[in-house]
Amino acid sequence: MKFCRLIHSILLIRATNFGVSGKTYMFRISNVGLSTSLNFRIQGHKMKLVEVEGSHVIQNLYDSLDVHVGQSITILVTLDQPPKDYYIVASTRFTKTVLTATAVLHYANSNAPVSGPVPAAPANGFDWSMEQARTYRWNLTSNAARPNPQGSFHYGTITPTKTIVLANSAPLINGKLRYAVNGVSYINPDTPLKLADYFNIPGVFSTNSLSELPSGRAATLATSVMATSLHDFIEVVFQNNENTMQAWHLDGYDFWVVGFGSGQWTPDKRKSYNLVDALTRHTTQVNPH
Ligand SMILES: *[C@@H]1O[C@H](CO)[C@@H](O)[C@H](O)[C@H]1NC(C)=O
Repeated sequence: MKFCRLIHSILLIRATNFGVSGKTYMFRISNVGLSTSLNFRIQGHKMKLVEVEGSHVIQNLYDSLDVHVGQSITILVTLDQPPKDYYIVASTRFTKTVLTATAVLHYANSNAPVSGPVPAAPANGFDWSMEQARTYRWNLTSNAARPNPQGSFHYGTITPTKTIVLANSAPLINGKLRYAVNGVSYINPDTPLKLADYFNIPGVFSTNSLSELPSGRAATLATSVMATSLHDFIEVVFQNNENTMQAWHLDGYDFWVVGFGSGQWTPDKRKSYNLVDALTRHTTQVNPH
């Protein structure tokens, strides 16, 4: 399992789109930036969310959608408005200066250029965003039941092997600003981890440098690897005590995002987990504390 934290960004939208009245078009929106969440919207049109990182979701309609760093979504948009041109907008979220990029949704029989104000992003950022994320549900009809390595497709009934709490931080180590997880800032080794593991090369990485819970220790540098066993089913808690949104990506795996919350995580929060129709995804945002 390899989690990475995604950090920085740029806003790009192709200039003009073109569509026929009455038809429905699919848009796939990816945030390929490194630090900034974005909000996506189309003037005068509802967006039907159908897919999030490979999971089919309950098809709710949205006026705008937050897409965090590393995330991808698919929406369907029906051109059901009077034939003219409409703004397509992406703007940065949770930033002091809001950067906005626009493009044009052009109806084939359009008789008017874009007009009116560029539709605004939702006002209250972090809370709104978390509420929206909670509305994403697995579509249990289209994500048909299938066995997983634990022998059950009911993820909510599998007992986790263990709980790992990962807290991100930005400490100074040897006078340099570093990003750290549970007080350990990762150092990329010269020998690739998989080679070191396969050929049993000692001294490349350590499996005891990173604790499974946040530690109060001073931050250190290490090539930290967390050991788990095949078929383990792990509860991972991301604790963000910083004041910026974080994005965590699990390389090569997906995971169920069973809950979002504020403040410090406690075992009591398990009562509010969605153990029925949470979606599996590869990347999750973690709201600031
Ligand atoms: C689930 O997905 C199917 C398409 O695969 C769709 O027809 C159905 O409306 C979806 N269910 C909900 C509740 O959105």
